[in-house]
Amino acid sequence: MKKVLVAGATGYLGKYVTRDFKERGYWVRVLVREKSLNKLEEVGPFLQPPIKDYIDDIFIGEITEPRTLQGLCNDIDIVFSSVGITRQRDKVSFWDVDYRGNKNILELSLNAGVQKFIFVSAFNAHLFSELEIAKAREKFVEDLKNSGIDYAVIRPTGYFSDATEFLNMALSGRVYLIGKGENKINPIHGADLAKVCVDAAEKGEREIAVGGPVIYTYREIAELAFSVIGREPKITSIPVTPLKLLVEMIRPFNKHYYTLAKFFLTAMQNDFVAPQTGSHTLEKYYEEFLRHRRKK
Ligand SMILES: NC(=O)c1ccc[n+]([C@@H]2O[C@H](COP(=O)([O-])OP(=O)(O)OC[C@H]3O[C@@H](n4cnc5c(N)ncnc54)[C@H](OP(=O)(O)O)[C@@H]3O)[C@@H](O)[C@H]2O)c1
Repeated sequence: MKKVLVAGATGYLGKYVTRDFKERGYWVRVLVREKSLNKLEEVGPFLQPPIKDYIDDIFIGEITEPRTLQGLCNDIDIVFSSVGITRQRDKVSFWDVDYRGNKNILELSLNAGVQKFIFVSAFNAHLFSELEIAKAREKFVEDLKNSGIDYAVIRPTGYFSDATEFLNMALSGRVYLIGKGENKINPIHGADLAKVCVDAAEKGEREIAVGGPVIYTYREIAELAFSVIGREPKITSIPVTPLKLLVEMIRPFNKHYYTLAKFFLTAMQNDFVAPQTGSHTLEKYYEEFLRHRRKK
């Protein structure tokens, strides 16, 4: 039986990946921060499942502190990492976590003789090349490629978790689009993306661009959100030029928020359409999300 380490197991994608590895017969170790242990037993904010029953071994450690990671990769055949700080408020930088944190796991993997390292970066990363989030993750990709270990880099478009923001805006009465919303994206559900990640453990492809089964414009996503909640669409297009200026004004005050704002500004002004895969549609996810919200 092959043994896998999942780093990022408490996140949106990591939970589905953990479940998928276990269901395919792997022995599964997860790296978790002590303060996040409860997430293993809970349904996540974007309906990602509890995963306690899919885990063989919980390793408690901080990816940024190598002294807490001793033995993490011992006896492990495959390492998967989706660790990153996109949604985090802790006072750490993309370089601390996305780069050095993942590098710490890579070094332990090399020392322990791990066979393969699977890492999740982003589709169209070159569009974000001036942003710290992309610089840090792509520097890690470069180091991974040069390390000599067998690897796969997964490059997804956007996740259903992020597309939930359109539904939340619709629920509060109005969806705001950057520009006219005519650019296209095929976002992907965590379960569909997990399948691609676990397949990558078993196949030889090293760079895998992937998106969900349906291609939408951002405006269509906004309209879909209103249709699912049964309201007439109220959509406002924010002109790009003043927004760009506003985002630049954030820069001197908060680099982290500047990076995230610029990231979404760039994302909504370009097409993000990668090879289509999976079966989950945004419509079904939105319906499920609403049902879950009403039950709470
Ligand atoms: N969201 C998108 O649309 C999108 C699109 C393309 C690519 N991606 C990439 O995919 C990756 C995974 O996305 P996701 O939505 O699954 O992210 P997520 O839900 O924010 O999960 C991030 C994971 O990283 C862990 N982590 C963060 N800081 C850590 C630290 N200091 N020490 C240990 N663990 C830490 C988190 O643990 P805690 O629970 O302890 O915080 C969590 O398990 C992202 O990093 C992003 O670069 C995302």
